[in-house]
Amino acid sequence: MDVNKVIIPAAGLGTRFLPYSKSIPKEMLPLLNKPAMHYIVQEAVESGIKHLSLVTNRSKHCIEDYFDTTPGLFSALKDLEKETLLKEIEKIIKSVDFTYVRQHEMMGLGHALWLARHAIGKEYCGVMLPDDIIFAKQPGLEQLIRVARQEKVSVVAVQEVPTECLSSYGIISVKKQITPNLFHVGHIVEKPDHKDAPSHLAVIGRYVLSHKIFNALDEMTSYSVGEELQLTDAINTMMQSNEKVFAYKVQGMRYDIGTPIGWIKAVIGSALQDKQYGPHIQRFINDLGTSDSFVFNQSKNIQHTV
Ligand code: G1P
Repeated sequence: MDVNKVIIPAAGLGTRFLPYSKSIPKEMLPLLNKPAMHYIVQEAVESGIKHLSLVTNRSKHCIEDYFDTTPGLFSALKDLEKETLLKEIEKIIKSVDFTYVRQHEMMGLGHALWLARHAIGKEYCGVMLPDDIIFAKQPGLEQLIRVARQEKVSVVAVQEVPTECLSSYGIISVKKQITPNLFHVGHIVEKPDHKDAPSHLAVIGRYVLSHKIFNALDEMTSYSVGEELQLTDAINTMMQSNEKVFAYKVQGMRYDIGTPIGWIKAVIGSALQDKQYGPHIQRFINDLGTSDSFVFNQSKNIQHTV
């Protein structure tokens, strides 16, 4: 089974990040010196993906611009012998094709995927939600592709979440536990009340799905005009037509940057993990707890040696 294509739905309004998201898409929030979307596309490329379909809207031009070459900037940097600063992004741009699909009306995640259906043939495809950033030795999506190939099924990524978070996610019911990290899914309940949640295993934003997902979405578009189409409903419909879905506990560190608090945690977490910035930020955090911290002694905050 080959998985060469990925759909990235990025057409949300980003209301939680207003007024920032008025003119800059929330997918372009920075994590260190790169926008969040860079990490998503990089994970796709490192997972062997060759074709990306991004579902965007009229206010998301700068995502397209970011994943384009910049000859003027390149030659200016070349004159300064600094062109290697663009090496990483240039490499990403060259290794994958981009297709952009517009979502004209906010009709939900399922609808966004359905719009990209023409880019996918009769094959399994990946879906990556840019609110979820995963730092892992083996890229998160590649972990799912490995399971999908091995078991010849669709796979969703899951993570164990505490009771108070159940109502923020799609929660799976477990038909059968196959290994400590792999489950055969019975069904998925979208954002349940904690009393109705069938487990503590929450779907996080990585999927490898059979093309049958588009048949399920086709059926739904025919009866729910004007309503939001949930991807969860389509996955449940697909399972009813005998497509097995497994859930895999992705190994790695996942940040939910869909809220300002989650994004701030991701910035601090990724800075702490970074070779260059880590020691500085660690010192800064340790210092915060002391009575002589920079809060009281601003001169301490002036050591920007990086
Ligand atoms: C979506 C899905 C949900 C999933 C979540 C992961 O919800 O509908 O099933 O658990 O992503 O981040 P959203 O967060 O877009 O509302």
